[in-house]
Amino acid sequence: MNAITAAITAVGGYVPDFVLSNKVLETMVDTNDEWITSRTGIKERRILKEEGKGTSFMAIKAAEDLIAKANIDPLEIDMVIMATATPDMPVASTGVYVATEIGATNAFAYDLQAACSSFLYGMSTAAAYIQSGRYKKVLLIGADKMSSIIDYTDRATCIIFGDGAGAVLFEPNYEGLGLQDELLKSDGVGRDFLKIEAGGSILPPSQKTLDDNKHFVFQDGKTVFKYAVSGMADVSEKIMQRNNLTKEDVNWLVAHQANKRIIDATANRMGVEEDKVLINIHKYGNTTSATLPLLLSDFENKFKKGDTIIFAAFGGGFTWGSIYLKWAYDTK
Ligand code: UT7
Repeated sequence: MNAITAAITAVGGYVPDFVLSNKVLETMVDTNDEWITSRTGIKERRILKEEGKGTSFMAIKAAEDLIAKANIDPLEIDMVIMATATPDMPVASTGVYVATEIGATNAFAYDLQAACSSFLYGMSTAAAYIQSGRYKKVLLIGADKMSSIIDYTDRATCIIFGDGAGAVLFEPNYEGLGLQDELLKSDGVGRDFLKIEAGGSILPPSQKTLDDNKHFVFQDGKTVFKYAVSGMADVSEKIMQRNNLTKEDVNWLVAHQANKRIIDATANRMGVEEDKVLINIHKYGNTTSATLPLLLSDFENKFKKGDTIIFAAFGGGFTWGSIYLKWAYDTK
């Protein structure tokens, strides 16, 4: 019998209806469409406006989209991994709630947090469970309600982030398709450059943390940019080299959508042509854990069975990495 590999067999996605354009941001902070577009590639982002709805709302929608498209029985799902940096609540796992709500009542679930690399790390985790033979259907969801942790008076961050969710199903494959190799990295040097300082165990919530605006994302953009450009390009180039992949062998680059310039730098180092680089940052901004699965959901129709896809991400922590995957199905 052939060895088990872990393949993506279905995808789903969801973004909220409300569009926050650069033009509207111009009325909120001292910025302009030209600056945002040229520095980031972002034109608009989606925001989950409805009160009382959190990350789980979007995660459930993305999972339901996948379940409907793939026509699977939620009772067959063995586990749900919820990749997110914005859980519904600090305690009471969002993944557990999502699994129950979608009817995956035979599954166990948990959350996985690695900032913008949450989904990429989740791919590794999901694949390991499948390759071990332990589980047959692992649902990996990446979702973030970034608008819940962004200060809309801070032009350094509010222009970047958006809300959204995507989901993929991992199943065993016996033809050698699916995840081929991974190169995952982290470095605690990043902790000071991208963070929410308060609300955790070091600085619990207090009137002072509220007054000091410490519950929002802080980013030293310039420093993160430097680390992101070299980090994402390095691992993507290395994973190609150690798998003897030429630029012609690569069909698609599915890279974290944080900044178009970071994606371009990665593609350049890999030597990959522009038409192989999947982009939706102009529509959604940086949706953190949702960028990779939303790309898969948006571009699913383009993928052919056997296509070589390089995934890459970089995020707070720092966390980053690259995954080499062979696509396992033709879209009906
Ligand atoms: O996904 C997690 C990982 N995160 C990332 O990968 C993000 C990495 N960082 C970035 O994408 C970029 O650093 C930003 C998009 C955040 C910023 O772009 P930048 O080219 O690094 O700009 P900068 O911070 O160096 O600022 C350049 C200038 C400054 O003015 P001066 O000092 O040159 O006069 C800023 O004050 O642009 C100014 N500026 C703005 N102007 C208009 C900063 N933010 C804005 C703004 N609108 N929103």
